[in-house]
Amino acid sequence: MEALDMDIQKHDEKRQGEAWQSNTEKIQHSKKFYIESYGCQMNFSDSEIVASILQSNGYSATTQYEMADLVLLNTCSIRDKAEQTIRKRLSEFKKVKDSKKGMLIGVLGCMAERLKAKLLEEEQLVDLVAGPDAYRSLPLLITEANSGSKSVNVLLSREETYADISPVRMNGNGVTAFISIMRGCNNMCSFCVVPFTRGRERSRAHHSILNEAQQLFDQGFREVTLLGQNVDSYYYIDPEKNEEITFAKLLEQVAKINPLLRIRFSTSHPKDITKEVLLVMSKYKNICKYIHLPVQSGNNRILQLMNRTYTREWYKAKVDEIKRILPGCGISADIIAGFCSETEEEHQDTLDIMEYCKYDMSYMFFYSERPGTLAAKRYRDDVPEVVKKRRLTEIVDLQNQLSLQSNRDDIGKIFEVLIEGNSKKNDQEWMGRNSQNKVIVFPKEHSDFQKGDYVYVKVLSCTKATLLGKIENNS
Ligand code: 5AD
Ligand code: SF4
Repeated sequence: MEALDMDIQKHDEKRQGEAWQSNTEKIQHSKKFYIESYGCQMNFSDSEIVASILQSNGYSATTQYEMADLVLLNTCSIRDKAEQTIRKRLSEFKKVKDSKKGMLIGVLGCMAERLKAKLLEEEQLVDLVAGPDAYRSLPLLITEANSGSKSVNVLLSREETYADISPVRMNGNGVTAFISIMRGCNNMCSFCVVPFTRGRERSRAHHSILNEAQQLFDQGFREVTLLGQNVDSYYYIDPEKNEEITFAKLLEQVAKINPLLRIRFSTSHPKDITKEVLLVMSKYKNICKYIHLPVQSGNNRILQLMNRTYTREWYKAKVDEIKRILPGCGISADIIAGFCSETEEEHQDTLDIMEYCKYDMSYMFFYSERPGTLAAKRYRDDVPEVVKKRRLTEIVDLQNQLSLQSNRDDIGKIFEVLIEGNSKKNDQEWMGRNSQNKVIVFPKEHSDFQKGDYVYVKVLSCTKATLLGKIENNS
């Protein structure tokens, strides 16, 4: 199963834990914090808010947890494996804490609510626990924990959007940034724990989103990703003008900030992405032609059990509409193998819809039962693990072929690429992305481009994950 795990990890890239580096490390504050984030982009974005709250309270960031007075893990509950990884990490921190007086360990994010009692009391692994809507209370929780009491705030809010807090951009490339536009989720996909860990859906005031995007552009950033569990249900009423702001309107307003600022967004529930959004995307060159459209399964019975509220026919028609309005648009998906009672034929339907949609990329998982979800209450997790993993391997193998084919189809094409920095393997090469979110690596060739510049690149060859090219005449 090693190879399979590696494959899953690769496709799970954005969901890996990552330590943070802060340019404010140079500033000598009396107390230091260390934060490690797991899970979705939303969690990484939340850690930037936490960093901002802590810095306003006299803390500075460190990249070495051994040096920290406060060690924080921003956790993910989406699958059992994510929880196990976090438990291992907490045990490592605990060893250092036992030999370091005064060090505090805190758990933030989605595991907070579910595991607070266990982590704080039974296993005594942590000193404080704060749920996704409780980060403003962190200074208070720290004070309580310092005085020896176990401190917890996992209350979920119907209003909190952290709209007034400017996230601290740490460990970034200075070119691309996330902007959180909404929190929570009102969908009740039966497999998913998010509605329970992150609470009800609420949208952030549009003027604070626009201000943040403008500030990022002024600081030299050239790409923003608007983030939410379900961005297409963004909805805000401007109290001054009494104007309704839908996601399509918001997207258009962000696009108008500057043609040099690229806009991406994630995630779109297929039932909510409107034709209006697609039309706005087609109108503005700086809105990237890429849509992440989780399908989860290609079979109608399973989609119904999952409570996804669409059929395979409806989903395929949505993909057709995207391809019609936005020719050449990149499309990716999330796919779950081995959901409760899934048969072999039903699994084949998933492979079939993948072929139909020709996804450029997918995040692929086998089903992991999460306590408290509708599926855990209603259905038996009865597909044996070996079968789930074999089906996942088939899905991963097919996706690899589709990704390779999609990349091969780009050979000979010229793309506008935003340079994000040096390629990982060679500092004589740039790495960037095209509008369709594909990574392109190309030699610098003594040109005087900088990261954050747009450059035309011709694709010469590819792997399944990367396009390889050369700079074209950019005049
Ligand atoms: N088991 C496996 N995968 C899951 N996801 C969410 N919940 C589960 C689960 N219980 C996947 C879905 C979702 C993505 C973020 O994680 O595909 O779109
Ligand atoms: Fe979970 Fe479904 Fe909400 Fe996505 S849309 S966060 S899968 S409940």
